[in-house]
Amino acid sequence: MNKNIPSPKDVSKVCDLSKPINKIVVSRGNPLAKLMIIGEAPGAKEEEIGEPFVGRSGKLLDKLLQNAGIDINEDVYFCNVVKCRPPQNRRPTKIEIQENLPWLYQQIKLVNPRVIVLVGATAFEAILKIKSRISLFRGKWIDWEGKLVMPVFHPSFLLRNPSKEEGKPMSLTKSDFLKIKEKIDFL
Ligand code: URA
Repeated sequence: MNKNIPSPKDVSKVCDLSKPINKIVVSRGNPLAKLMIIGEAPGAKEEEIGEPFVGRSGKLLDKLLQNAGIDINEDVYFCNVVKCRPPQNRRPTKIEIQENLPWLYQQIKLVNPRVIVLVGATAFEAILKIKSRISLFRGKWIDWEGKLVMPVFHPSFLLRNPSKEEGKPMSLTKSDFLKIKEKIDFL
């Protein structure tokens, strides 16, 4: 891991979102998995249950993984860039992302996955520091800190664009997950 990456300082606080009423949502899945999935931030369901990707988006994500033959309990570790739910499910601010990143880097270091999937624009920009349209990068393997990283569309975007037609986001994402399955089987 790059020496410039900061480590978490204050264990009592992740960022200003982690007020006492907000649950800190850390992870779901297998901490020994080769595949890490990183999303944006917990929503209402995630905050209630205390696990990432357990709401509507999570159900679709699970389905995409399972359709590709990936075991969601054995093969995957799920987490988010930001550990607490932003009010009204707004996008996390730059400051919130910066304050949460050291925790995410610690998770990556501990789990040490071979493959990382960046789900949606927030994870894509936060990790790769690329300010561009995710549609230009989705489905592509990128080398990051010696790991294979692939950005994919966020399932909440797919829920708003449910067409199954070839060339549309849903069918592109299905094929991205097939590529991911192929890669984890190969590694
Ligand atoms: N969206 C995310 O990015 N992460 C979650 O955990 C839930 C919804």
